[in-house]
Amino acid sequence: MTNKLKIGIIGCGAIGMKTAEYIVTELREKTELVGLYDKDPDKLSALKRIASGKIVTDLDGILKEADLIVEAASKEAVRDLIPRIVQYNKDLIVISVGAFVVYPEILEMTKQCKGNIYVPSGAIIGIDGLNSLRFGNVRSLTLTTAKPPRSLKGVKTADGEAVESVKEEKVLFEGDIMQAIKLFPRNINVAATIFLASRYENVKVIVKVNPALERNTHRIEIDAEEAKMRVEVENIPSKDNPRTSYLTILSIKSILQRITSNLKIGS
Ligand SMILES: NC(=O)c1ccc[n+]([C@@H]2O[C@H](COP(=O)([O-])OP(=O)(O)OC[C@H]3O[C@@H](n4cnc5c(N)ncnc54)[C@H](O)[C@@H]3O)[C@@H](O)[C@H]2O)c1
Repeated sequence: MTNKLKIGIIGCGAIGMKTAEYIVTELREKTELVGLYDKDPDKLSALKRIASGKIVTDLDGILKEADLIVEAASKEAVRDLIPRIVQYNKDLIVISVGAFVVYPEILEMTKQCKGNIYVPSGAIIGIDGLNSLRFGNVRSLTLTTAKPPRSLKGVKTADGEAVESVKEEKVLFEGDIMQAIKLFPRNINVAATIFLASRYENVKVIVKVNPALERNTHRIEIDAEEAKMRVEVENIPSKDNPRTSYLTILSIKSILQRITSNLKIGS
């Protein structure tokens, strides 16, 4: 078949692996996995085993061969990829969304892309509402993230206590999105996705540690002239990378399904 969508994956970790499996199984009628790339050769060769047929394993080769690239690597990978996506006119799915906030020059550069750049909703929900309210008058937007101590390993409270010793829920941070990104870089993708969808400059971020929690919880509250919105998600971690919420993997499946299907549901 020549008219299958050719897909290349950059990053062969938890997300890359599940994405590759989905492409070669459920999407095999409509897509073809043509390339895999990882800076870690062991990760690359482990994932290469699931693919049948010829697989390109160098970045330039993938950029030439694939119609669509899935980035599942790091914000640095996105920073380096965007100029090349512009050069090669390819479509791209970006999951390390924080790159667009940390390196604002690449967000600007996306305007020169002839291909499409897709940002899945990742670990958060409610992006449809945020996309709509971008055209409304938002008065306030708050992201509250609460995590069990093990998900915040290495973080200290304002009075210097290690999160692992905290006995009850404690606010670790309350402030604006840029400060939050600096202090809690692992939370950056959710905050960046909210910012990109809403384009609201004054997103307030609250980060809490809560020993009673089992799951990472994100709540978005928006007060806009046109609507009030409150959504909350409790995420289970991926078995392959506990720092990644499993919902992120499902959001990539969803966007691939949307790209390859004629029926597109939601905004
Ligand atoms: N949008 C969201 O809500 C969301 C949620 C979870 C994770 N993420 C992001 O998704 C990305 C992948 O997550 P994961 O759980 O699969 O991580 P992972 O650590 O399991 O896998 C990442 C892989 O990418 C490779 N890699 C890193 N930088 C690279 C580069 N510059 N070039 C080539 N390969 C590179 C690593 O060697 C590793 O094998 C991370 O950046 C993470 O922050 C986003």
